[in-house]
Amino acid sequence: MEEEIDISELPGVGEKTAEKLKEAGYTDIMAIAASSPGDLCAVADIGEKTAERIIEAARKSLKMGFEPASQVFERRQKVAKITTCSKNLDSLLGGGVETQAITEFHGAFGSGKSQVGFQLLVSVQLPEERGGLDGAALIIDTENTFRPERIKQIAEALGLDHRKVLENIFVARAYNSDHQMVLAEKAKDIIKERNIKLIVVDSLTSHFRSDFSGRGELAPRQQKLNRHLHTLQKLADVFNLAVYVTNQVMARPDVLFGDPTTPIGGHIVGHQATYRVYVRKSKGDTRIARLIDSPHLPEGEAIFRITEEGIRDV
Ligand code: GTP
Ligand code: MG
Repeated sequence: MEEEIDISELPGVGEKTAEKLKEAGYTDIMAIAASSPGDLCAVADIGEKTAERIIEAARKSLKMGFEPASQVFERRQKVAKITTCSKNLDSLLGGGVETQAITEFHGAFGSGKSQVGFQLLVSVQLPEERGGLDGAALIIDTENTFRPERIKQIAEALGLDHRKVLENIFVARAYNSDHQMVLAEKAKDIIKERNIKLIVVDSLTSHFRSDFSGRGELAPRQQKLNRHLHTLQKLADVFNLAVYVTNQVMARPDVLFGDPTTPIGGHIVGHQATYRVYVRKSKGDTRIARLIDSPHLPEGEAIFRITEEGIRDV
């Protein structure tokens, strides 16, 4: 899969035109490729012929259309998995947290979503024979809950040098939803330079929830969240890396029977996440994870523990 270029790099698009297009919402190549010459003429002050040429170039650069199944097969062959350090949880996920996919964990506060993320930030650095990808990791921390001390504990429990492990985790605080989106959009360079094999977004939805809390803001929120997830999926595909995101749940006053909570971001996250897991507290340090709506894995549950050493089996 090809890496996407910026729209200003399309032949016929100068700086001014690029700016106008972006202002009108044509922020990526896909948006231009899917547009008509009339649309572009209207917003960017360019002639019909130029618009046609720009759209054609965008379509070409995306290689839109069909590809041989052998190519899809080849790409799928490269899918790799990161261990959670719980065999139960790994098998629920079909062997671990997968590359080229987005894995979402949702649940109430204290259910262990961040802890699973911390474990993965360390696990990904393990050699392949121990369930890692010999890679580095990146975390977008939105709630200031990233704890290097905790990483140290988890690393040492696996016999790793905690200094090296911490050097291979790149942390960015996101201050609002726009900042969070930009961080993901700009991650390409560091991913290439540092062999990043895992991106953690903890939490995916908290900023979107508070930045778009007013009446009538649900649609723009969902649109932006959708775009953000699209960016993350693209990184997962292009760089064969795993994306792990956490998500809070909110109360649903309309549910009288069964579980009265629902993950934030609803259908958008549901559509875009390849694996969704609902995690809830059980007795003591045990947690129950339930796989939801997976395209090729059976629904089921796994019990795991949050220990001093990290995520473990019961
Ligand atoms: P929110 O971000 O608030 O929505 O919660 P979360 O789902 O991210 O919860 P988190 O992953 O932070 O889990 C917190 C729980 O992990 C705590 O209640 C503890 O039970 C457990 N935990 C955290 N650190 C340690 C530790 O060092 N040792 C042990 N044994 N348990 C820990
Ligand atoms: Mg958390």
